[in-house]
Amino acid sequence: MAYNIGVIRGDGIGPEIVTEAVKVLDAIGEKYGHEFKYTEILMGGCSIDATGEPLTDEAIGAAKSSDAVLMGSIGGNTSTSPWYKLPADKRPEAGLLKLRKSLNLFANLRPAYLYEELKEACPLRDDIIGEGFDMMIMRELTGGLYFGERSTKEEGGQLVARDSLTYSETEIRRIAKRGFDIAMKRRKKVTSVDKANVLDSSRLWRKIVEEVAADYPEVKYEHMLVDNCAMQLVKDPGQFDVILTENMFGDILSDEASMVTGSIGMLSSASLNDTKFGLYEPSGGSAPDIAGQGIANPIATILSAAMMLRYSFDLDAEADAIESAVKKVLKDGYRTVDIMPRDGSTVTRVGTVEMGDLIVERL
Ligand code: IPM
Ligand code: MG
Repeated sequence: MAYNIGVIRGDGIGPEIVTEAVKVLDAIGEKYGHEFKYTEILMGGCSIDATGEPLTDEAIGAAKSSDAVLMGSIGGNTSTSPWYKLPADKRPEAGLLKLRKSLNLFANLRPAYLYEELKEACPLRDDIIGEGFDMMIMRELTGGLYFGERSTKEEGGQLVARDSLTYSETEIRRIAKRGFDIAMKRRKKVTSVDKANVLDSSRLWRKIVEEVAADYPEVKYEHMLVDNCAMQLVKDPGQFDVILTENMFGDILSDEASMVTGSIGMLSSASLNDTKFGLYEPSGGSAPDIAGQGIANPIATILSAAMMLRYSFDLDAEADAIESAVKKVLKDGYRTVDIMPRDGSTVTRVGTVEMGDLIVERL
């Protein structure tokens, strides 16, 4: 069967890591008899340089007509890149937010899993790691603070900036349902994270999550305040199965959860709407400081491609093959710089391209 994949290479390490994921997809296509066709789509800083806009209507159209989109990362150094002298809605990140909104990608799945082989790269103590951990952060992706009205105005002789945080019942209910559906396929536990001791939007969040929970009697659920959750993630990460939360809390907690797994370079993600379409990208950023050096970890992007096969194309065996090839490579002792064990002695350090090749060899 043929699949049309939109490819956003983006900025920084984006092009390097996407090349490796495409290499893996091509190897899967050959082995299992699928045809993957790629359409290059410009977004982020590279799109600003080429068109003056971080995401053009043409690019949105190309993404919409793809079966799924695979993305690297966008953006540059926020202190030094000229992109950050542009008005906020013309900067690289605005392109990504616009794409998520245009395609209604409200459900962001960010799995954080500790590989047995990477225990040595995990910054937590052994007694905290315990049996390891395996959680899914479900982040609401098209509402809240990132999409509210904002302004910066002079008032009473000084500048005043405002960002507004809005959630409707519908927005909360649809992500909560997704969260509980996913929990049913996992260990049947949902931790809904909010700041209901302060925010109205969180109190509504809690109310709707409780209503949704009533339809899932098998799922154990609890509410947790976001500040406590940030602490619990480093105190006892093994307690979490599905973490269900709003946009900004999910942004912050998913970076924290990824670091607890050893490296943000391992964390894949899927952004889904109500159809089979999805946008698949590593959870990490464009890492401009290491771009072009051939040392970035391509695994998160390769695992994102596996998520694409699983969620958008229903190719479970092929997704399994990629995931076990990644496990094998780690078992065989190959590491990119970000996942080197603390003592560094017993493993082989490899670069981006070599890591891609090693994974292909093990498919
Ligand atoms: C992420 C990123 C984005 C976000 C940025 C680049 C807008 O941090 O995907 O987590 O905040 O959603
Ligand atoms: Mg983020």
